Amino acid sequence: MPTTSERVLNDPANFHHRPDEAGDPFAPFRAADPSRPFVIAQLGQSLDGRIATVSGESKYINGAPALDHLHRMRAEVDAVIVGASTIVADDPQLTVRRVSGRNPARIVIDPSRRLKSGARWLEEDGTQRLIICAQNASAQSCTGAERLELVSSNGAIDPRLIIESLFARGFKRILIEGGAKTISVFLDAGCIDRLHLLMAPMIIGSGRNGLDLSPIAELSRALRPKTYFHALGAGEFLIDCNLRQSAQEEHQP
Ligand SMILES: NC(=O)c1ccc[n+]([C@@H]2O[C@H](COP(=O)([O-])OP(=O)(O)OC[C@H]3O[C@@H](n4cnc5c(N)ncnc54)[C@H](OP(=O)(O)O)[C@@H]3O)[C@@H](O)[C@H]2O)c1
Repeated sequence: MPTTSERVLNDPANFHHRPDEAGDPFAPFRAADPSRPFVIAQLGQSLDGRIATVSGESKYINGAPALDHLHRMRAEVDAVIVGASTIVADDPQLTVRRVSGRNPARIVIDPSRRLKSGARWLEEDGTQRLIICAQNASAQSCTGAERLELVSSNGAIDPRLIIESLFARGFKRILIEGGAKTISVFLDAGCIDRLHLLMAPMIIGSGRNGLDLSPIAELSRALRPKTYFHALGAGEFLIDCNLRQSAQEEHQP
């Protein structure tokens, strides 16, 4: 009898054959308690956990199945968040285009207000756009997004404050889409309920890590999320990590 984390579903169509998280990676989105925030992060990465080469080339590590999954995630949330460096590097639209569904609000964390106007996420399309910056930031940031100013310390805004402030504005299901630094900061702060690792059949061998968390000395302090595997197609697969549930007992040798 395989354990939950050993179950592999070979066909994405199977997602809906089981209504629970073992069969459908979107079941936890639907089951999320509306009285508290539900925060999910995603990382598209190679088999060795890289999101870019040493020169920063990252397009494209993932293929169509993982991109479809990312768009499905966007369609299932109220808001999508990225860090300022992702806007500079990729100029993403952050809209739902590959699947049907509505666009989530687009939120960018830009503490020092360094971003310029004219980026694609700022496009006027009826979707709410919000820029989160530090209260004392003096630079002029872009136009085209509402500004949310939050207390910061040495340029860092407490991720818990960000989530609380967004929840208070009615954003209940929130996707932290990237990049690596933003996801790592939210993960270190214990703000993420679920992490979707979208694995591409590629080994880069060097380059940028997907996650870069605070160092730990003992394995006993490692995060041991309960995991679910889903084949996406074309050799890509999803590891859905439930960061609110430990799989420690299952992992005992
Ligand atoms: N593989 C994937 O799934 C994926 C997804 C998205 C992006 N990416 C890639 O990731 C790379 C960019 O990622 P990155 O790690 O360099 O940067 P990033 O996470 O996109 O942005 C980091 C920046 O966001 C701001 N920030 C985020 N959280 C903050 C907080 N709590 N308080 C204050 N500031 C905060 C800071 O801006 P300041 O620097 O202004 O202080 C920080 O340096 C790009 O190459 C992009 O292609 C990959």
